[in-house]
Amino acid sequence: MNIQKDSRAFVKSLHYISGVTLSVFIAFHLFNHLFALDGPDKHIQIMDQFRRVYRHPVVETFLLLVVLFQIVSGIRLIYKRHAQTVAEKIQVYSGLYLSFFLIAHVGAVLSARYIEHLDTNFYFAAAGLNYYPATFIFIPYYFLAVASISLHVSAIHYLKTKSQVMAVSIAIIGLSTSFVLIVAFTNSFQWFDMPIPYEKFIRSLF
Ligand code: HEM
Ligand code: HEM
Repeated sequence: MNIQKDSRAFVKSLHYISGVTLSVFIAFHLFNHLFALDGPDKHIQIMDQFRRVYRHPVVETFLLLVVLFQIVSGIRLIYKRHAQTVAEKIQVYSGLYLSFFLIAHVGAVLSARYIEHLDTNFYFAAAGLNYYPATFIFIPYYFLAVASISLHVSAIHYLKTKSQVMAVSIAIIGLSTSFVLIVAFTNSFQWFDMPIPYEKFIRSLF
């Protein structure tokens, strides 16, 4: 019984450490996406700068291992966890969506890069958001991803500090950022035209 408790506490602290590590990438990643407000060229220019760091083979391998560990450890933490309070439930459900999203998202990025030989830049992310009917799937898909990460953090903050004001503020900032990103990637719902390879790619899927 105690061994079980100890191993859970151990997984939880590892999930915490890798979560903080992954959050550094996520912060830069979402900051990069906010430059879509200034148009595709600016977004790609900033991504090129950030890629110098996270596309380095050692850094990228480490990042992908952290993503995998985060999913496996998160699922392990959910298993046998009896979520009772609203904050605990938000933590579990946001974690479950993040597991799905991270597998789908990183899988899509890597397969587009290595199988389709596409540059997974602004247009890769925007392709699904700007064509009918794919947009009906991709708007909630990306919106919920950014919402989930902020709700996960908001729930953690509440459970650790009991500060409702801060927790709600984190959630509101996250949900607003999520909405702004959808606006940015869809040209304020006026839609972007894609370069031909990206249009072909998304039309081949839908
Ligand atoms: C995007 C990545 C993620 C980050 C940055 C992250 C971060 C964190 C952090 C910092 C904690 C607090 C640990 C503590 O209280 O010491 C936590 C808790 C938790 N996370 Fe995640 N997490 C992520 C993804 C996931 C996923 C994919 C799942 C589930 C499938 C998940 C499920 C959980 C659960 C259940 C807890 C509560 C543990 C407990 O109190 O018993 N997380 N997460
Ligand atoms: C609006 C939301 C998002 C969009 C449009 C988006 C788009 C992208 C794009 C285009 C790439 C490829 C980057 C490159 O080729 O350099 C990428 C990679 C990635 N994204 Fe996202 N992303 C979003 C949210 C997230 C979130 C919330 C997470 C984490 C929870 C995440 C995790 C990752 C990871 C781990 C990679 C792989 C990095 C690599 O190895 O190249 N993304 N994303």
